Amino acid sequence: MFEHSSDRDDLHARIFAWVTPSLRQLPWRDERDPWKILVSEIMLQQTSVHRVLGKWEAFIAEFPTTHACAEAELGDVLRLWQGLGYPRRARNLHSAARVIVSEHAGRVPRMLDELMALPGVGPYTARAVMAFAFEDEAAVVDTNIARVLRRLTGESLSARSTQAIADEVLPEGESWLWNQAMMDLGATVCKPRPMCAQCPIQHVCEWRGVGSDPAERPTSARQARFDGSDRQARGRLMKALVSGSVLIVDASEVMGRSSDVSMRLVDALVDEGLIRRSGDELHL
Ligand code: ADE
Repeated sequence: MFEHSSDRDDLHARIFAWVTPSLRQLPWRDERDPWKILVSEIMLQQTSVHRVLGKWEAFIAEFPTTHACAEAELGDVLRLWQGLGYPRRARNLHSAARVIVSEHAGRVPRMLDELMALPGVGPYTARAVMAFAFEDEAAVVDTNIARVLRRLTGESLSARSTQAIADEVLPEGESWLWNQAMMDLGATVCKPRPMCAQCPIQHVCEWRGVGSDPAERPTSARQARFDGSDRQARGRLMKALVSGSVLIVDASEVMGRSSDVSMRLVDALVDEGLIRRSGDELHL
């Protein structure tokens, strides 16, 4: 894509000039502690920045270190997760803290393969920790950045090719600011409905808002409807359990589903290790 190094330099200069006054102030951006960054990135995987803001601060106040989290009960971790959704992430984060304590002396590892071996950490989160905590060379590709890169190249790139382009354009020694800038560009300008007139790289963009959108991939999974979903019913039960135990006979009412459906969902939550059954009660 960038045959001439001057094209890359030009792209970097435009993005950095744009981001210097526009970088969003977010509390995890003042942080370099790898554990706190890992927590923020796991929260941000499936929850919007706005909803993560207060939750991240409360979580790291309670669990400021991997040791603090590893020593806690899963129920305490799930209580602090309430409101973020997808509680499997909390279970994975708790397991990751235990792995980090047992295998890495409590220090979050720094290498891509070691990070990706942690529960709940995929290629995105591993690179985000490398770039945002350690300021190491790593090109982060989340949905926002993938959208920017597909439009910039005008190609409906596969995940692998998107990562390859991201690696290619990463400016040496500037990984932290570059990745944050690309994220902000995707979140505030190159949105699903783009604002091309305000874009600092419109002059080098292959798409520029004209014709079919290369970022609109036929395979892209739309988020499933929430109302009436299993996720909604599970969320209701998890929320109720934060305040105390629930009788199994009341689960159906709490979840707003038939008793057959509720029992299936309760069984799944127990199997996933997110809730416990003791006697005729359910607990976190
Ligand atoms: N989403 C994931 N990581 C983020 C970050 N560091 N800043 C803003 N949004 C994000």
